[in-house]
Order: sequence, then structure tokens, then C-alpha cells
Amino acid sequence: MLRVFGRDVRSQTARAASGSPEVIVDLLTGAGIVLSRYARRFPEARIITVDLNPRLLSAVSKSLKRQGFKNVETIAGDARELPMPASQADLVNISFGLHELKWLDRELILGEACRILKPGGELIVADYRELSGPVRRAMARVYFILFEPRWIAELFCGGLQGEIADAGFQVEKVRDDLPITRLIVARKVTEEVCMGGLKLVR
Ligand SMILES: C[S@@+](CC[C@H](N)C(=O)[O-])C[C@H]1O[C@@H](n2cnc3c(N)ncnc32)[C@H](O)[C@@H]1O
Repeated sequence: MLRVFGRDVRSQTARAASGSPEVIVDLLTGAGIVLSRYARRFPEARIITVDLNPRLLSAVSKSLKRQGFKNVETIAGDARELPMPASQADLVNISFGLHELKWLDRELILGEACRILKPGGELIVADYRELSGPVRRAMARVYFILFEPRWIAELFCGGLQGEIADAGFQVEKVRDDLPITRLIVARKVTEEVCMGGLKLVR
């Protein structure tokens, strides 16, 4: 759906980042389309890309290196329990990955995002949103039923930003002006506010 209606969404996602992040972590990288936009925008940044699928990560890393980006590191592992120290990242991106996961996994990953961010660090989340208008709503409904997990509606109508706030972030901006996408910019204000997703299950 994004390929058809939202070609510019991924560039807009990377453009939402503020400042000059030195360490960018991309969780649930997939094919790394958004990541390449960050790399172009912040060519000097150290980029850490995380996905369960090592083959995808290897392809993403090779592609970025071919384009001239040298500072790319891959972590083939579980974003619910990152092998990374706390307070390391200036920016964490999670784009079009959370809707594929159930609530507890989303909370664990958002908890880890909070833990690895430096205080003041920025979280950018882009994911599907509900549509307005009867025709568009009906079309999106059919698409979601056919191609996306049944729990995707939990992210709609404030659900996603609520989950981000529950993980300890201060939600600063919610943009609904991009096609089928909700773009959320949030900040880790202090160390203490992180809910640390793993506390939920331990
Ligand atoms: C839809 S893709 C992400 C798309 C991509 N971020 C983008 O912007 O186009 C979802 C990815 O999440 C990864 N994934 C799912 N659960 C994960 C987990 N617990 N830890 C790390 N990666 C995970 C999958 O392997 C898959 O590559």
C-alpha cells in the first residue's frame, strides 16, 4: 500500500529527525528503506541496524556500504532485549514494524528504545493509521484484513502514541498529514522515566 500511495513517506520520516544525531539505531530494519534515507541525511552518523533476520541485515549493510556509508553496524537479534548498553543512542527509528507485533512485544521494544536512548534522545515511529472518509476507510479496512495482522487496529485512534507514552516517552508531535501513515516524534526526557519493557514480564 505504501509503495502505491506513500512513496514519499520514508523520506519524510527521516526528515522528521531533529539536530545532528551521532548514533542512530534503527529497530525492525527489514529491507532498510527508511534507514537509507537517514544515512543520506546524516552521512557522518554511526548507524546501528537491528533485525531478527541476518540475511536482510547483511543485504542492507552491503547496500549502504556500496553507497559510500561506512559507519554501519548490524545486530542480528531480538529488539525486545537488545545487546546494547543504556543511554547510547541519540535517535531511535522504528518504521512500519510495530503493527506486525502483538502488544507485549511492542511494549518490550519501545521499552528497549527508551533504555538505549540518551536522556533527551529522540524516538521516531512511523506506522499505519486509520483513514477518514467512508471510501478510503473501507478500502483500508479491506487491505488491513487481507494483508496485516488482526490486532493492527490497536494502533489506531491514539493507541500507538499511548503505547509510546506508556513506555516512558514524552510524545512531542503526531503527524497525520502523510498518506496512510502516522508519524510520531517522541523524546526520552530523563533516565528515570523509562518503563523498561522487560519489567513487564520479569
Ligand atoms: C515490516 S518489516 C520493517 C520495515 C522497515 N522498518 C521499513 O521501514 O520499511 C518488519 C521487520 O521486523 C523484524 N522483526 C520482527 N520482530 C522482531 C524482533 N523481535 N526483533 C528484531 N526484529 C524483528 C522482521 O524480521 C522484519 O524484517
